[in-house]
Amino acid sequence: MKKMTENSSKIPYLILGIGLLVIVITLVAVIFAVNSNDTLGNFERGISNLELSRNPEIIDLNYRDTYQINAEIVKTNINGNEIRMFGYNGQIPGPLLKAKQGSKISIDFTNKLDQETTVHWHGLRLDNAFDGVPDLTQKPIKPGETFRYELNLPDPGMYWYHPHLREDYQQELGLYGNILVIPKEEDYFNKVNREEFIFLDDIQIDRNDVSSFYKDVTTQALMGRFGNIMLINGKEDYTLNIKKGEVVRFFITNSANTRTFNLNIPNAEIKVIGSDGGAYEKEFFTEELIIAPSERYIIEVLFDNPGVYNLMNINPLKQYNLGKISVSTENVAEDLSSEFLKTNENNYMIKEVSELKKYINKDPDVELSLDLNFEGMMGSSMTQNMDHNMHGNTGMIHSGESNGIEWEDTMAMMNFGSTDNNVQWIIKDKKTGKTNEDIDYKWNKGEFVKIRLFNEPNSIHPMQHPIHFHGNRFIVLEKDGEVNKNFVWKDTVLVPKGSTTDILLEISNPGNWMAHCHIAEHLESGMMMEFEVI
Ligand code: C2O
Ligand code: CU
Repeated sequence: MKKMTENSSKIPYLILGIGLLVIVITLVAVIFAVNSNDTLGNFERGISNLELSRNPEIIDLNYRDTYQINAEIVKTNINGNEIRMFGYNGQIPGPLLKAKQGSKISIDFTNKLDQETTVHWHGLRLDNAFDGVPDLTQKPIKPGETFRYELNLPDPGMYWYHPHLREDYQQELGLYGNILVIPKEEDYFNKVNREEFIFLDDIQIDRNDVSSFYKDVTTQALMGRFGNIMLINGKEDYTLNIKKGEVVRFFITNSANTRTFNLNIPNAEIKVIGSDGGAYEKEFFTEELIIAPSERYIIEVLFDNPGVYNLMNINPLKQYNLGKISVSTENVAEDLSSEFLKTNENNYMIKEVSELKKYINKDPDVELSLDLNFEGMMGSSMTQNMDHNMHGNTGMIHSGESNGIEWEDTMAMMNFGSTDNNVQWIIKDKKTGKTNEDIDYKWNKGEFVKIRLFNEPNSIHPMQHPIHFHGNRFIVLEKDGEVNKNFVWKDTVLVPKGSTTDILLEISNPGNWMAHCHIAEHLESGMMMEFEVI
């Protein structure tokens, strides 16, 4: 605000004031309209006769094995209340599926929910027909119906599965599970004392239930649904009991609708060894790790003192205790601490990507900008006025932001009133001007496409977007002019406000695929495009 008064005259300031007033009035009207809809299109929320959700089972699958997964209605205890939730096989998170790289497994899926769903196998380079995108790769699966998914697992790493239909509701309620693809090379990962997997999540509780969801409209479309209760693996009180001196490898997945986590483990160092699609070229140590929705990180941590270590989310506005690691005084049987202190190179990864370094100096093939269309929310001339006046002033309508990331829901009222009807998030091709589903790239298998993602900072509400590509993997080449010297295969990249991020998409898997923002409410608000691999 201060900056603005200094370098602008008073007239635009007045227009801005009027503009803001109009927004507030519109929002109050919208909130009123949405809240008075309670009887119109609420989902069933009763809990009678529901079983309590269970902890995930670990399922080892061999080549060509088949496994049955049902989406089921359960209840869970959160914040002292029993809440109607969903679980794969009644579990939150769903079963952890483990299989060797190169295997093919089948999942017989049955929908036992009270609404349509599909299952998307996030990050897998599988056959297009099993990608789980409604009306693109399959019909929505109706309650009571069954669908057989056949999954190829060509790449090592931690992947995950979740619905691709009303993700904002179904995933928030507990439909998410991991698939660990075990590398075929035995020395691909370091030796550790144990492996753990963690879903970082949050849930928005209002009184004694999740705050309202509506059948026909997705609310909180502006910033996405921030939770007020933090969860690890669906629980508020995650605790891991280990021995002194253990080196633990954690596979971490962010399954939140919109929240970006900044993971910290005070008094311990985090060794980052991999991300979405396997290992980094070179391991590195860090004290904190930013993890956007749907991203995965593989880290190793040495717990060399007895006592309690906290898993924390520390952002510029708030600190949260997510869970704890309790270390006993008993020594671990095998001491791997000296190995842990080394930062190794992964020669498999180095070899795999050595040919790709040359793309760093190439011009982008495609430029996409990430933007917001607010037209429905107020008159378009008012939008333009706002846009005009806010040009260059990026601290206006969002105060919970730093490093280009909106860490908290600082405008809950305004956010709640925004819906997928009055907010449209946009992916726009710079060359053709086409947006969202009108974008129709056709690329040939074997090509590498360099894509420049630019997150427009001058819209009425800029914020970060985790951009996810289906069925094909990519490398981040450069971020804001800084060349990436440590490649790792990704399927999701966080693009902060104002950032320019260059990625190299490996076109390897034929079919019709989707790319979209992984903030569930942004996806519902249109922030997606399709591309065809021939
Ligand atoms: Cu994890 Cu299209 O999504
Ligand atoms: Cu987004």
